[in-house]
Amino acid sequence: MSNGLLKGKKGIIFGALNSQSIAWKVAEKAHEQGAEIVLTNAPIAMRMGEIKELGEKIGATIIPADATSIEDLENLITKSMEILGGKIDFILHSIGMSVNVRKGNHYTNENYDYTLKGLDISALSFHKVMQTAMKFDAMSEWGSIVALTYIASQRVFPDYNDMADNKSYLESVARSFGYHYGIKKHVRVNTISQSPTVTTAGSGVKGFDSFIDYADQMSPLGNASADDCANYTVTLFSDLTKYVTMQNLYHDGGYSNTGVTQKVIDKFGSAS
Ligand SMILES: NC(=O)c1ccc[n+]([C@@H]2O[C@H](COP(=O)([O-])OP(=O)(O)OC[C@H]3O[C@@H](n4cnc5c(N)ncnc54)[C@H](O)[C@@H]3O)[C@@H](O)[C@H]2O)c1
Repeated sequence: MSNGLLKGKKGIIFGALNSQSIAWKVAEKAHEQGAEIVLTNAPIAMRMGEIKELGEKIGATIIPADATSIEDLENLITKSMEILGGKIDFILHSIGMSVNVRKGNHYTNENYDYTLKGLDISALSFHKVMQTAMKFDAMSEWGSIVALTYIASQRVFPDYNDMADNKSYLESVARSFGYHYGIKKHVRVNTISQSPTVTTAGSGVKGFDSFIDYADQMSPLGNASADDCANYTVTLFSDLTKYVTMQNLYHDGGYSNTGVTQKVIDKFGSAS
């Protein structure tokens, strides 16, 4: 359903890999609400080809960019302004990857080259995107920038491995850059801390299937879906949330504020 919430707005969306991707859903919903979009992803993700389908569906140009490469980001930002015909109103950073997780390295046995690579892709890239946008004065006044995160940044989830550290860094960058972008341009910067969601990145986490059920039963509203995450993201891109900035916003059905639920207690049976 369209309310025209993003009518006339222009945005860049990172991270749509396939139709399960959270970024994919955000692109669809933002388009539905009237936005014009440039899609981007790592050159390697282009080879899978699915992003082209999304581009055609929502009339978006696709510009490949490795989010760790300043050269690629400069090209992306300048070309996007040309294509969209002006400054950018919103950016979604929906990128995550841990090489240690991929290679099956335990958190206590990291390969630090992998750690640095994962940190660069998952967290430092957020700073790089914003620094590049600022350098080219690419954001509109009162624009909105959002990155996706997970609660393992704040509490221990052992199998989330070094992605937990990456997400802590990401959330800190949102606060620190949000301060400077707010003062300079009234641009707001937030992270959305999403429920576990079945996607390519999500399923890389060990024991993900049981974990997603646990999270569901620990959330009074149940796990939030990717579609609902996209709806929430769209509100943050809209003018209805202009004074929300430098926040880590939980979109998790209440999980983050729940100690235990009756459903989980019942799993352990009667104490008598
Ligand atoms: N799925 C979950 O359970 C969950 C929960 C909370 C937060 N998140 C976060 O949501 C975001 C999106 O992940 P998703 O679950 O939709 O999975 P996904 O696998 O669909 O998306 C991850 C994206 O990162 C992109 N990427 C990887 N390396 C890149 C690089 N060098 N440059 C540019 N892009 C690169 C991938 O191509 C992919 O499109 C991530 O930040 C993830 O950590 C996911």
